[in-house]
Amino acid sequence: MTITQIKQRKKDLDRENNVYMPHIVLVDKIIEETPSVRTIHFHFKDAKLNNEFTFESGQFAELSIFGVGEATFCISSSPTRKDHLECGINRVGLVTNALHRLGVGAEIGFRGPYGNHFPLDLMCGKNLVFIGGGIGLAPLRSLIWNVLDNRDKYGKIDIIYGARSVSDLCFKYDLDTWEEDKTLNTVITVDKGDGKWRGKEGFVSEVLRDAAPSCGNTIAIVCGPPIMIRSTFPVLEQLGFTPDQVITTLEKRMKCGIGKCGRCNIGNLYVCRDGPVFSYSRIKDFISDEY
Ligand code: FES
Repeated sequence: MTITQIKQRKKDLDRENNVYMPHIVLVDKIIEETPSVRTIHFHFKDAKLNNEFTFESGQFAELSIFGVGEATFCISSSPTRKDHLECGINRVGLVTNALHRLGVGAEIGFRGPYGNHFPLDLMCGKNLVFIGGGIGLAPLRSLIWNVLDNRDKYGKIDIIYGARSVSDLCFKYDLDTWEEDKTLNTVITVDKGDGKWRGKEGFVSEVLRDAAPSCGNTIAIVCGPPIMIRSTFPVLEQLGFTPDQVITTLEKRMKCGIGKCGRCNIGNLYVCRDGPVFSYSRIKDFISDEY
């Protein structure tokens, strides 16, 4: 082996052993969901990795813009649909603003998948109630499509989703498909409709109370902004759901994504390492104070 080859091999080994080293992905498609949320579709530049990469619904990844930084995003596409990956990007900071300036063909960094995932084994054979708010539909839609691609394994399915306004509804193409699917009960609500809105008005928790899904043999999966999560848990308790029957996924101040920086704790748990998916029974003692 020549000196040059040895140096290159050392570089390759350093790269392989560096847990912060991202893979390169290429942006295939961009969908503007709302004025502040876009979905990017992407695939790995390395064809072998593209074929071999696997993940589970509920897991997240770090996306990086070179020279700007990286941030955490749940993977919003379903592992049952392997041709590309999707992430929903809410424009709230430096990295997300940079991701909103990207065009098709851009190269960005990806590391992951990280974290645990939704417990499909627990959900199998049960009725499911999906409850989402705003961009919180991103991780839920990965699971919803995963479940719908295996529809015969599950019982009755309710989807309750809301946003502040009609223009804040994300993934409208999915909502249309689910509303047309007669095997599902899909209810869409906005806090306040515009002149053309013919759907429900009101907070997700109120619509949930009115819909009153049965708790029998049922798992509820909740994801949305903290205020929606905090208002939804009591309604589920009133409807008879036990804390073990309620699953949620949290996104909180994540930085490294791999349990090293200590930025994402809730109580004695790290969201990145112990979650982001938790049963309500696991987090209920500190969720009102810390989330
Ligand atoms: S994001 Fe660093 S410890 Fe969780």
